[in-house]
Amino acid sequence: MNKKLEGKVAIVSGSGRGIGREIALKLAADGAALVINDLDDSVADSVMQEITGAGGRATVCCGDVTAADFAARFIDTALTSFGRLDIIVNNAGYTWDNVIQKMTDEQWDAIMAVHVTAPFRILRAASEYFRRAAREEAAQGVDVFRKVVNISSVSGVMGNAGQANYSAAKSAINGLTKALAKEWGRYKVNVNSVAFGLIKTRLTEATAGADSAGATINIAGNEIKVGVNQQLMQNLETMIPMGRAGTPAEAAGAVYLFCIPESNYISGQIVICGGGRP
Ligand SMILES: NC(=O)c1ccc[n+]([C@@H]2O[C@H](COP(=O)([O-])OP(=O)(O)OC[C@H]3O[C@@H](n4cnc5c(N)ncnc54)[C@H](O)[C@@H]3O)[C@@H](O)[C@H]2O)c1
Repeated sequence: MNKKLEGKVAIVSGSGRGIGREIALKLAADGAALVINDLDDSVADSVMQEITGAGGRATVCCGDVTAADFAARFIDTALTSFGRLDIIVNNAGYTWDNVIQKMTDEQWDAIMAVHVTAPFRILRAASEYFRRAAREEAAQGVDVFRKVVNISSVSGVMGNAGQANYSAAKSAINGLTKALAKEWGRYKVNVNSVAFGLIKTRLTEATAGADSAGATINIAGNEIKVGVNQQLMQNLETMIPMGRAGTPAEAAGAVYLFCIPESNYISGQIVICGGGRP
């Protein structure tokens, strides 16, 4: 069977675990070469090995997406390793929740940096290549579509108490999606967002209670607790028409739809992948 993404090159931020990992595996299984990124080298390496072990092509570009030099490094890795760039998935991120009266500037800035500024810089760094490639392909009379998928959240569409920073950031990424869809239509770049509801990953894994020692993520020396209280998790699941959280593979499926040729005439859209919610 023909693979839909044969010859394509994709970069996926935060693809060492969770949804990003599933996106990378899915794109690779359909023929794309992958640049894997994560804060944590070991998980990025193991995804890369999983892909190459299955006969695919992959390399890693580790590091924090919020670092000033990261965007250029990420794009360069795709171009130097594989000679082209077709798909960008801005997925890396985490939550750092609090009610607004307790939310610090540091919490606000960190969440805006990872969910908005980093994707902005990555897309800006790709723009020169995208424009040049589009001009050359137009001159040759070849029709090549490129894809950007920005990862948002129902918090960014509906708002969520305790997540003023995250809701604002995930809403801002949707604004960036819509603006770039307008700027890049002429270059045949489809720019869309997928807003996830509740997906079972480390970010939402049930912790035994608000004070339990769950998983943490280390950002600039801060150990930030991730995970959701077990009771809250059960309450959230009852609000989902399908009655359960989604799996990372189901989440990756929604992103995949925006990476294949069947979505070539869809741009500037925000699709909610949330089991019928909201
Ligand atoms: N899980 C959900 O229910 C849910 C819902 C809505 C949106 N999202 C979004 O989906 C995306 C993926 O989340 P997930 O649930 O798979 O979480 P996850 O914690 O399982 O995986 C996220 C990965 O991103 C990496 N990462 C985080 N910050 C990074 C940084 N600054 N630089 C590089 N890598 C970084 C982490 O190390 C981790 O491997 C995030 O943008 C998240 O906000 C998730």
